[in-house]
Amino acid sequence: MAVYKLDGSGRLHQRIAIVTGASSGMGRAIALALARDGAVVVCSDLRPDARPDGFEPDIHIPTHEVLINNGVKSVFKKCDMSKTEEIFDLIEFTVKEFGKLDILVNNAALWMPLRDFVEETDEQWDAMMGINGKGVATSMRQAIKQFLTQPVDKVSGSRGRIINISSSAGITAIRREATYAASKAAVSMLTRNVALDHAKDYININAVCPGVVRTGASGINFRSPEIIKEMQKGTPWPRLGEPDDIAKVVVFLASDDAQWVTGQNIAVDGGFTVGIPL
Ligand SMILES: NC(=O)c1ccc[n+]([C@@H]2O[C@H](COP(=O)([O-])OP(=O)(O)OC[C@H]3O[C@@H](n4cnc5c(N)ncnc54)[C@H](O)[C@@H]3O)[C@@H](O)[C@H]2O)c1
Repeated sequence: MAVYKLDGSGRLHQRIAIVTGASSGMGRAIALALARDGAVVVCSDLRPDARPDGFEPDIHIPTHEVLINNGVKSVFKKCDMSKTEEIFDLIEFTVKEFGKLDILVNNAALWMPLRDFVEETDEQWDAMMGINGKGVATSMRQAIKQFLTQPVDKVSGSRGRIINISSSAGITAIRREATYAASKAAVSMLTRNVALDHAKDYININAVCPGVVRTGASGINFRSPEIIKEMQKGTPWPRLGEPDDIAKVVVFLASDDAQWVTGQNIAVDGGFTVGIPL
């Protein structure tokens, strides 16, 4: 049984949103939160099913089906963020289906288990940079091309909004994550540079940088009491993160309340990147 109460009214009423990596974890929470505030969400991922090692209470129901079951318009569209033509297709499909695009959330990413830099390979570099770096850049560019064909919305004061999911690893060095961190630093810097280029066009571009959040990707850590203790040591706030912590900030950035916010990397990390909590 679905556990969400979605009535399709709210501050994102009739806005059209794409969420990449929407089948699991934060992407799923973001898709549900945008819809809860009234957005029509195109849920995009490699496949509609959530990864089986996640913590979602209704993990067996694909995200778009949760939305549809709650009377909200949604659709699944496959897109592998490592494939340029599939990214083009995702944006084109959305505009064909719903007539416009208002919000793009670049959430999908590749993370690989921790290892020292010397143990990393060129293949891992290409894979992480390909999805986290180039994939995000390509989808940003395609979304902006679409935004530029749309008038500035009289209510929102924006032509369109992009919210990238970066990472605290893109802000501060974390041991044994060199390539992933470099790819997330690319996301954070792209956010700032592209925001600078397109502020004149009334396009908002921001990033959210999560700290340690309980999802399938980090599940291996969340199933070990010892590692939880270690992760908590680095997080000043007395609990670790949940996908909804991230989703709520994404909804704010997607809303009219954030009209004058652009080029920002907002850390949502329980203070992880603030300093050393000795
Ligand atoms: N979990 C954390 O602690 C944490 C911390 C900081 C940043 N992040 C970032 O948050 C975002 C979401 O992570 P999560 O923890 O929810 O991960 P997750 O693995 O639980 O979910 C990611 C989703 O992305 C999809 N995906 C993977 N590769 C894809 C591709 N090539 N194309 C399209 N979809 C693809 C997966 O199928 C999955 O459904 C990522 O950008 C990640 O780097 C996570």
